[in-house]
Amino acid sequence: MGHANHFVRLVALIALAIGGFLAVRAKVVPKDFGVDGHYRSSAIPEIAAREPRHLGSEACSDCHDKEFAAWKAGKHSTPECENCHGPGLMHVKVMSEDSVAKYPDRIKNNPNALRVTSGLQECTWCHLKTFERPSTLKYITSVEKHWTQYGGKFTPTSKCTDCHNPHTTVVK
Ligand code: HEC
Ligand code: HEC
Ligand code: HEC
Ligand code: HEC
Repeated sequence: MGHANHFVRLVALIALAIGGFLAVRAKVVPKDFGVDGHYRSSAIPEIAAREPRHLGSEACSDCHDKEFAAWKAGKHSTPECENCHGPGLMHVKVMSEDSVAKYPDRIKNNPNALRVTSGLQECTWCHLKTFERPSTLKYITSVEKHWTQYGGKFTPTSKCTDCHNPHTTVVK
């Protein structure tokens, strides 16, 4: 008899787990999931309705006309401001004082809310030679060698921007 009890408890537990799963599933799975198979077609208008986080370089020109003009006129006008500085939406909202209260504390306390540039890592993302990158892009094959080639010495605190202006690429 004792053994039968174990069995009943086990079955009850499994039934509870399945019931729980179905209840949670019914709550969290969107209504239109499964209508077109695993693809949820209403995802497109939902995503399209989101506010874009990248604004494009023109959006920076009002307040940073100096950097914008230098960037536009120089050899570095292919990478956008936000390729290096990260998405600008929050920065611009906060800097235009568009209801700071709407945004989380993280942004209030760090009003720039942009990616912190290292002046090195962003540069190697594009300029360190790898298989995939177009051979037409000007590249360096080794960070250390590039320093040595131009009479510098690479140290842990070295940055590409010690020599290059990031906005124009011109060597200082
Ligand atoms: C509404 C005006 C405004 C716009 C638009 C704007 N910024 Fe700024 N930005 C500021 C102000 C104000 C500061 C703070 C300047 C200071 O601290 O001296 C700043 C600072 C910065 C800094 C320096 C951050 C730091 O940590 O020192 C960077 C980089 C920057 N902005 C990039 C951008 C980029 C990229 C865009 C376009 C996506 C942009 N900004 C658009 C007003 C603006
Ligand atoms: C190739 C990467 C890159 C691009 C593209 C870029 N920046 Fe920067 N920017 C940097 C780095 C790196 C610094 C930090 C300066 C340093 O390390 O000397 C910086 C600094 C700044 C600063 C702080 C003030 C200063 O000059 O130090 C502002 C403002 C700024 N950038 C705005 C812009 C705007 C606006 C654009 C587009 C028109 C832009 N940046 C495009 C990499 C970039
Ligand atoms: C998003 C990709 C990207 C990033 C990030 C980037 N660059 Fe560039 N860089 C380019 C492109 C594209 C060119 C233009 C190449 C061309 O037209 O042949 C260029 C050109 C250059 C040139 C050569 C200019 C010439 O003489 O023709 C230098 C030097 C340079 N970048 C340095 C840097 C430095 C320093 C950083 C970091 C602050 C950096 N780049 C970050 C894409 C990038
Ligand atoms: C010690 C100074 C110095 C440092 C640091 C430096 N560069 Fe340069 N770089 C130069 C000089 C000088 C040139 C020669 C072209 C010129 O005069 O514009 C150059 C040219 C380039 C070129 C053009 C291709 C070539 O080889 O001529 C690229 C791309 C470049 N640098 C990227 C970088 C990147 C990315 C970093 C950081 C990882 C960096 N540089 C750090 C001095 C420096």
